[in-house]
Amino acid sequence: MKIGILSSGGDCPGINAAIRGVGKTALTHFGMDVIGIKSGFQGLLVRDFMPLDDKALSGLLNLGGTILGTSREKPFKKLLDGNGEDKSQIIIDSYRKLKLDCLVCIGGNGTQKTACKVSQLGLNVIGIPKTIDNDIWGTDVTFGFDTAVAIATEAIDRLHSTASSHNRVMVIELMGHKAGWITLYAGMAGGADVILLPELGFDIKKINKAILDRITKGKPYSIVAVAEGLGLESRISRMIEDGTGLETRETVLGYVQRGGSPSAFDRNLSTRLGGYATELIAKGEFGKMVSLKDDKITSVPLEEVSGKVKLVPASHDLIIHGKRMGISFGV
Ligand code: F6P
Repeated sequence: MKIGILSSGGDCPGINAAIRGVGKTALTHFGMDVIGIKSGFQGLLVRDFMPLDDKALSGLLNLGGTILGTSREKPFKKLLDGNGEDKSQIIIDSYRKLKLDCLVCIGGNGTQKTACKVSQLGLNVIGIPKTIDNDIWGTDVTFGFDTAVAIATEAIDRLHSTASSHNRVMVIELMGHKAGWITLYAGMAGGADVILLPELGFDIKKINKAILDRITKGKPYSIVAVAEGLGLESRISRMIEDGTGLETRETVLGYVQRGGSPSAFDRNLSTRLGGYATELIAKGEFGKMVSLKDDKITSVPLEEVSGKVKLVPASHDLIIHGKRMGISFGV
């Protein structure tokens, strides 16, 4: 068999480990041929690829980013230039000309949606979920998330110094697209006093009350972790400063959250998902996304995943326990 691997959407820690997991197992255990398709679906459209032999697959485990490159090309979105070209046939032609038996698509929600459409064209596809945002439906956790949470937690840890030394409110905006997973996990692990998630919304009066209550307890400083999905970080810090009279500063952590080497957890998750993807290919079970459920690697049909987003439930135990400990969720 011959398989092609592509990575699509934003880069995240663990993609290279997944490429290695798929590639080395396919070559060594199943005797398959492996190629890497460059720059996501863009590379598939123009047939830009590289051979992935054992040497090319070495040294990848701890490497950030993706050796294949990535893009946010969505081949099924009508072209914006007005001619509305349908790229389905180009994809089918590329797949056939490359003599692929399966296309492995490593990516987030958008990628799994595209992978599902490619599968509906009659081509063999396996999806591998990746994103720091942890918002892919059908898997308990995505690789990249653990690493991003560790980076964001360290950032919050370091903000405590300025908050307590200057008696300031330090607002930090964390990534996560429309979901609050990174903010919840890093906020709790970093000891934030106020944690604001898009899933819950917020009431500024409640935030300011929580910050002022801390003053009465002898803590005239606070850390506020805000998910980017709220899209309001600068307004929030202004509203806090106006409402509490405390000096307030903001930090947007940005792309450092998805850069660099993956954590040990993410490396092993990438390896497990990559290895399982090749098992499905060898068995001819296509049209699926590999996933983690209750610490077991399994799979879900791409059609079930496509178009869904996994958001933080209000009943998440970190929220329940956090609230009981006096942490404000702004609601
Ligand atoms: O999905 C990962 C992510 O970093 C999100 O947290 C963020 O909203 C988005 O990508 C940023 O996208 P871009 O790389 O296109 O700026």
